Amino acid sequence: MAVVRRLRLRDFRVYAGADVELGAGLTVVHGSNGAGKTNLLEGLYFACTGRSCRTSNDRELVRFGASATRVEADIEAQDGTHRLAVGYAPGEPKRFTADGAPVERLLDVPFRPLVSVFLPDRLDLIKGPPALRRAHLDQFVTGLWPARAAARRDYAQALAQRNALLPRVRSGAVTRSALGTWDLEVGRHAIAIRADRERAIALVADGAAALAEDLGLAGATELRYRPRSKALTPEEFATELSERLDSDLERGFTGHGPHRDDLALIRAGRDLRIYGSQGEQRLGLLALLLAEREALERERGAPPLLLLDDVMSELDAGRRGRLIERVTASGQVVVTTTDLGHVPGAGAHGVRRLSVEHGVVREELRAA
Ligand SMILES: Nc1ncnc2c1ncn2[C@@H]1O[C@H](COP(=O)(O)OP(=O)(O)O)[C@@H](O)[C@H]1O
Ligand SMILES: [Mg+2]
Repeated sequence: MAVVRRLRLRDFRVYAGADVELGAGLTVVHGSNGAGKTNLLEGLYFACTGRSCRTSNDRELVRFGASATRVEADIEAQDGTHRLAVGYAPGEPKRFTADGAPVERLLDVPFRPLVSVFLPDRLDLIKGPPALRRAHLDQFVTGLWPARAAARRDYAQALAQRNALLPRVRSGAVTRSALGTWDLEVGRHAIAIRADRERAIALVADGAAALAEDLGLAGATELRYRPRSKALTPEEFATELSERLDSDLERGFTGHGPHRDDLALIRAGRDLRIYGSQGEQRLGLLALLLAEREALERERGAPPLLLLDDVMSELDAGRRGRLIERVTASGQVVVTTTDLGHVPGAGAHGVRRLSVEHGVVREELRAA
C-alpha cells in the first residue's frame, strides 16, 4: 500500500514553504478559518494527481507575488520510497516528475496513490451537469480496473469517426449505409462501458446506502445509474442509433450513448440533486465517496488516501465518532477541522496532529 509520508510545498497558495510529515493512519490538521487547512489538502491532492481538487485554473495555486510553485510528495510503497513532484509557472506547461524523471502525467505512475477527496464547498458532483458525474464514475471504474480505461478510449474514437461522417451523409457525399459499421463499433464499446459502470455501481450501492444512513441522512438513499441505451447487443444499439439518425444529422453529432448517461443519488424517492438541501447533498456525497473508497479497498487491496475537509461540523457527536472509526479502519486519512473537539480520538496513540496558522504548519503530536 502506498502511503504519503511527507509533503513539501513551495509558493503554493498561502504557503511560502512547508515541509510536512504525515501519519501512516490518521492525520488531523486544525486551525482557524483562513489558516490554510484546505490549501494543505489541495497541495497534497496536487502532488498526487497533478491537478487541483478546487480549481481548474492553476494560476490560483501560485502564491501571491511568487512566479512559480512546486509541490513534492514522498511516497512509501512496497518496493521502497518514491517521489512525485509537480512544478508550475503561469504561462508554461506543468512539469511532472516521478523519482526525478520527467513524466507526461502522474496518473500513469505505478506508485502513485489513489486519492479520494471531500470538500464541502465543492458540491458540483451532486449539483452540476451529468458530465461531471460521468467523469467521476469513469474515474472510479479506472481506479477499480485500470485496464478498462481502454474501452472509453475506443468508444471515443469510434464516436468521433461516426460524428465525422454525419455531415457527409447529410450533404449526400456518402449514403446512410456508410454509418453501418461505425454504428456497430460504437455499439460494441457503448455496451462495454455501460457494463463497467453498472458493475462499479453495484460494488458501492449498498455501502453508500448504509453509510448515508449512518451519517444521518434521513430516508433510504439509493444510487441509480441512468443509461440512455437499453441495447443488449451492438446490433440493438445500432438500431437505436438509426432511429435517431435524423436528429443526429441535424445536430451534426451523436446524441445517444454512454456519453450522455447520468448517475443519480436518490433520497426517499427523490433526486438529491433537485430536492436535497445543501446539508443533505453533502452527506450524500460523503456517503458515496466513502463507499467508493471501501470498494476500491476490496477490489485493489488498499484504500485510496482520503482527504476530508471540514466534514465534522456537519455531524453530531455520535456520527463523528462512527465516521472516524470507519475511515481509520485502514489506509491513510487526513482530516481538517477548526475544532479539535470535533475529531474523536484526535489525541489517540498513532494519530498525527498538525496545527496551521497563516500558512505555517506546526507539529503538535507525532504518530508512533
Ligand atoms: N495563491 C494564493 N496566494 C496566497 N494566499 C492564498 C492564495 N490562494 C488562497 N490564499 C489564501 O489562503 C488562505 C487560507 O485558505 P484556506 O486553506 O482555504 O483556509 P482554511 O484553513 O479555512 O481552509 C486564505 O486566506 C486565502 O486568501
Ligand atoms: Mg477550508
